[in-house]
Amino acid sequence: MGAPERVAVFDELADGMLRSVTLSDGTTVCLARLGEQVTAVRDQCSHADFPLSQGYLNPDGTIECGWHGAQFRCADGAVCRGPATDPVECFDVLVDAGVVYVRRLIA
Ligand code: FES
Repeated sequence: MGAPERVAVFDELADGMLRSVTLSDGTTVCLARLGEQVTAVRDQCSHADFPLSQGYLNPDGTIECGWHGAQFRCADGAVCRGPATDPVECFDVLVDAGVVYVRRLIA
């Protein structure tokens, strides 16, 4: 597992919204806040690379791609609706003292 990286301040994440952040290695990550929960997946749709952060966060906890409408589960990046067939990478999220950290799950 990678080292946690500070990416945002919790209070600056709007409830029900997506936000793109960039890790130190240039990877872009899409943060999703639903209530007190923050999740993170790769900010790149597995169908045709559209930034997921420019799509929509649905109340059921899925992110909908803004280009062709694929849906991914925030919790683990699984595909819930095509046309995408592959999941997107999921990241571990830690919130400590109001600061949001993201950690890569795979090396
Ligand atoms: S690029 Fe996301 S559904 Fe096509």
